[in-house]
Formats: sequence, structure tokens, C-alpha cells
Amino acid sequence: MELLYKLVIPQSETNLLLLNLLQMISLSALMIYSGILLGSISLSIWFYRKSIKENSLRYAELAKALADLIASGKMFAFGLGVVPFLAIIMVYIQLLNLTGSYVPKFLILSFVLWLIAIALIFIYHHSTELNYYLEFFKTKMSSERGDDDFLMFQEKAERYRTRTGFWGIVLLAVSLYIFIAALNLAVENWRWGAVHNTFELILSFSAFFKYMSFITSAFAITGIAFLYKKYKWMEEPPFADAELNDYAKRFNLSVALIAGMCMPLFYVLNLLITPKTAINDFLFGFALLGLVLLFVLLHFLYEMVRKSKFMYISATFYLLIAVIGISQVKEQLVFKYANAEQTERLAKNYEVFYQDLLAKAGRGEAEINGEEIYKGKCVACHDFERKVVGPPHKLVLPKYIDNPDALAKFILNPVKVDPAYPPMPSQGLRPKEAEAVAKYMIEHYGPKIK
Ligand code: HEC
Repeated sequence: MELLYKLVIPQSETNLLLLNLLQMISLSALMIYSGILLGSISLSIWFYRKSIKENSLRYAELAKALADLIASGKMFAFGLGVVPFLAIIMVYIQLLNLTGSYVPKFLILSFVLWLIAIALIFIYHHSTELNYYLEFFKTKMSSERGDDDFLMFQEKAERYRTRTGFWGIVLLAVSLYIFIAALNLAVENWRWGAVHNTFELILSFSAFFKYMSFITSAFAITGIAFLYKKYKWMEEPPFADAELNDYAKRFNLSVALIAGMCMPLFYVLNLLITPKTAINDFLFGFALLGLVLLFVLLHFLYEMVRKSKFMYISATFYLLIAVIGISQVKEQLVFKYANAEQTERLAKNYEVFYQDLLAKAGRGEAEINGEEIYKGKCVACHDFERKVVGPPHKLVLPKYIDNPDALAKFILNPVKVDPAYPPMPSQGLRPKEAEAVAKYMIEHYGPKIK
């Protein structure tokens, strides 16, 4: 843990705000990507089982199309998965510096598990292709010599695929649970001292609700993304068989509708368990906006199911992305509000760090020179002996000789003193500079007065 926090570079308040923003974007990308992956691969595995049980090549085709949905693009995994994930970890290390919280440790654990899961899922995706063609060849083959070898090979490939798919999905689900629980812990700062291991981490109702919220949105977006990608984006329908296309459409729409109908429940539950320290009007309004969009989305979905027409696919796809984005932004706002004190502490820390840096560079506080400031700003109106615009020092300095603080205070904030003079304009000095000038004046003119 100590080692992790050593990576921290103190950040100014604006930078901390930027980090929060980066967090919101990264989280939305990661959650949408991981959600589609989780949904599409588990449905794909389910259809493979069905295809074997019912010995139907059709379900295998659907299973393959589902596996293709997002696992076919390695760039997606990198841009929407690995990069945001690493950014999120780095930012949390920054934002939770000096708290001693174990959140970054859990995030790294979830990242390692997530990476293994992704690797397994990619292998699964490749073997769905392999198995699909093996099955295809089998139907074309006549029962000649070599059949047995072929069947054995096919069986082996089958086992291989089932196992990688199964373990990939289990690991993905586990890693995302740890991830979400860690994000939840980052908000619940009163638990930081009490949570040291993964077991203590995952035992939390609020983490469970947030996970369920993720799972429901994962299946909703999977169903809609399938329809969007395969029937709106691509020019040709994914299957040659019209009946299968019809089935795939209806199936994905129902998945989206059922999962979508569970979403408001968890959305509201999550809002109810938000720590009181983080609730304010803005957050509430923002969360409400998400809920309204969610209901609009459900209305579109329901209309499509009712009419068996797919006219709102693009609208629902973008709406759902917006809803998921809003709920991630909301989570980050909650984090920001709940940890406002921590942010303040980090910003103060940055001030100290910055002054140190200036001093090291030979500038900053060390360089404040009372004499220079005096000669630059004060001589225009002041002299020791004579009256210029302001009174001569020999008349006004005596009362300050033993009280440099009072002098510094006057220089910093001049007040009206002598009716014979106009008021002295403020010289716009910083406190440290006023002190230095006061010190210089007393040291320089003090001896002349006595
Ligand atoms: C634009 C002209 C002007 C400049 C520049 C100026 N002063 Fe003055 N200063 C005045 C005037 C006018 C007064 C008389 C104010 C009064 O009595 O209300 C005064 C009063 C003072 C007094 C007497 C306060 C007292 O309690 O009677 C001190 C000390 C002083 N100035 C210090 C400074 C120092 C140090 C600077 C430079 C950082 C400075 N002044 C720059 C015009 C100026």
C-alpha cells in the first residue's frame, strides 16, 4: 500500500477536479464495455448449452453471433477496457493518498482478475468460431475413414470451449464485483479503517445493490446493443434464415425489457443508500434526470415489444448509454461530495509541495525581500525626514518600533489614521511580503529614531 501511494504527485484543486472528470468518463466506458461483455458471453454460453441439448445448429449460430458482439474486437478491449481501468486505478491512488484506505489495492486485484477473464473470453470467442466450422464440416462429411478422429477432436474442442467460456464469465463476474465493491468502499469512508481483506470488502449491502444495478444494466445493454449492431449498423442481417433472425430479435428485445424493468428498482435503492454527507440538490436533480431517461427508455422498449416492431432501436441504444453514463457520473459525484474534506487536505498538501518546489528552484518565500519591496513601492510616498504624500517615518514609526506585527497589519490593510493626510491606498502585498517590509523598516529606521 505504502508503495502505491508513493506514486502520487500532489495535485492542485483544479487538477483534482479534472481527475474526477477523467474518472467519470473512464468509468462509463469500462462499465458499458464490461457490461456488454458479461451479458453477451453468458447468453452465448447459455445458447451453446441449448444447442447441444436440443442438437440444433441454429442455437449454435445465435451463440456465435452473441460471442461476436463485442469480443471480436481486440481494440475495444484495449480502448474501452484496459486503458480506462488503468486510469481509474491511477486516479484513485491520487485521490485517496494519505487516507491509508485499501481501495487501490482492491482495484488492482480486480484488474488482474479482469485481465485473466478477458483472456479466457477471447479464447472462448475463437473457439466458438472453430467449433462452428467443425460442426459445419461434420454435417457435410460422409461416414468414411477418419470420422472417429474427427469426432474426438471435435469433442475435445467442445470441452475446451465450454471450460474457457465458463471460467471466463465466472472470473469476469467476480472481478467486477470486487471492482464495484472497491468503488463503493471509496465512498463509504467511515469503513476505511475496518476493511483490510477481500472478504470484509464484499460483505456490504450497498456493494451488492450496486452490483445488481450493474448486472441489470449489463443485460439490458447487451440486448439492445445486439439489435443495434446486427440490425441497424450492419447492412445485412446476421443470419441467412429469416426465422432465426426473427427469433434473435425477439429474444434480445425481451432480455432488454426484462433487465430494463429491474433497473429502476436498483437505481432508486442506490439513491436511498447514498451517504447523507453526499446528498445535495444538484446530485438529487441529476439522479432524477437519469431516472426520467430510464422511464422514457422503458417506454420505447415496451412499445417495440407491443408492436413487434423495431423502430426505436437507435434511440434506446443511445438512451441506455446516457443512463449508464449518468449513473456513473452520479457515483463519482457522490464520491467527491462524501470525500470533500479529503480533497481539501490534498489541495493544501499541494500548496506546501508547491512552495517547497519554488524554494528549491530559488524562488518563492525564501526570496521575499523587504528592502526591495520598500524601495519599489513605498518611497514614492514616504521619506524618513520629510512629508511626501504620506507622513515622514520619523513621526509615525515610533509607535510601531516594538510592534512589528501591528506595522505589518497596517501595511497589509492601511486604515485611516491622521485626518491631515489622505488615506493610504492598499499596496496589494501578500501577508509574508508585508511582514518582510515591516521588518526591514524597523531594522533600518529604528536605530535612527532613538
Ligand atoms: C500612494 C502613496 C503611498 C504609498 C505608495 C505608500 N503610502 Fe504609506 N501612507 C500614505 C499616506 C497618505 C499615509 C497617511 C494615512 C493616514 O494617516 O491615514 C500613509 C501612512 C503610512 C504609515 C503610517 C501609519 C500610521 O499608523 O500612522 C506607514 C507606516 C506607512 N504609510 C507605510 C507604508 C509602506 C511600508 C508602504 C510601502 C509598502 C507605503 N506606506 C506606501 C501614502 C502612501
